[in-house]
Amino acid sequence: MNTQTDTPRAVLICPMPADKDAMHAAFLEQSGDRRVYLYPELPAPDAPLAEQVGCIVAFRPPAGVFARLPHLRLLHGTGAGVNHMLAVPDLPRHLPMARVVADEVTQGMAQHCLHALLRELREHRLYDQQQRDRVWKRWPQRDAGTWPVGIMGLGALGLGLADVAVRLGFALRGWSRGRKTVPGLESFAGPGELPAFLAGLSALVVLLPLTPETIGIVGAGELAALAPGAVVVSAARGGQVVEADLIAALDAGHIGHAHLDVMATEPLPAESPLWAHPGITVTPHIAAAPNGPALARLVLENFARLEAGRPLLFPVDLALGY
Ligand code: NDP
Ligand code: OXD
Repeated sequence: MNTQTDTPRAVLICPMPADKDAMHAAFLEQSGDRRVYLYPELPAPDAPLAEQVGCIVAFRPPAGVFARLPHLRLLHGTGAGVNHMLAVPDLPRHLPMARVVADEVTQGMAQHCLHALLRELREHRLYDQQQRDRVWKRWPQRDAGTWPVGIMGLGALGLGLADVAVRLGFALRGWSRGRKTVPGLESFAGPGELPAFLAGLSALVVLLPLTPETIGIVGAGELAALAPGAVVVSAARGGQVVEADLIAALDAGHIGHAHLDVMATEPLPAESPLWAHPGITVTPHIAAAPNGPALARLVLENFARLEAGRPLLFPVDLALGY
């Protein structure tokens, strides 16, 4: 048991309402002698130092919380993307930050994207309609190797998807800031190679972090560069695919279908045209999430690493924004 009393050892968790109970239980189960506060509970200002908050865990930190955490040492995301944390105006940007990389997130994202890609490659939307119409008609099996798929973002999630997709025979391209060496994938790097990456793709999967460089990165020009009938899978953050441009490209018949798990405004407002568009499949930001125990294990490991002066797992570069 750690009996350190001269450092702030408590963890403050700020879960989304749906995750609250499971996340709280997982942290309590694993925290040992550390205090765990469930926001809005906070230590009294005169509580012993060991009971003060040294680590905050949040997706969207509550407004004003940082002013109430004078002993904070570590910022930890509850997910892979930390754009909401980075957007907080009074974020103490001098502190280290870490994010989540976890098997179930990588697997969940690969499952989500492959489900969309396979549905399109194997024309299951068409077969659904045929079943409704009681039509028994077989179409030639399309060859994944002649149906190029491009993955924007080759981080934990993009590489996880590529790893499975390559074994299903997809012709893969990937785009990232730095060049990658991935068997079965043609790597493109940086803004200069974006046009070559996009040219003639049958499917585009967006798995980029949301940063100033990636807001609106898939607009009318990028969609026009894809093959006629191309499929778009947007599963990272809303705001990366320009929704009005996507609707225009669908209406013009250039884009065949879009699978959107993330939207510029979430929850998607009832009046949004995305809901009812026949060319769009909407899911409510469910592609992938860590489970409570895995999240608690990672955060507590990172907090212990910080205390011991060891490097964090999955650190965020605050200057790059991911
Ligand atoms: P990583 O940080 O591991 O990877 C990010 C990738 O994007 C890297 O390959 C990076 O390039 C590339 N990249 C970043 N900026 C640029 C740029 N300007 N130009 C070209 N490439 C760029 O992230 P993850 O793979 O873990 O996650 C990606 C995103 O997925 C998260 O940020 C989150 O927003 C979203 N997400 C969505 C979920 C959902 O349920 N819908 C669930 C989990 C995550 P390089 O490798 O060269 O650095
Ligand atoms: C994440 C998410 O970033 O769930 O992890 O969106």
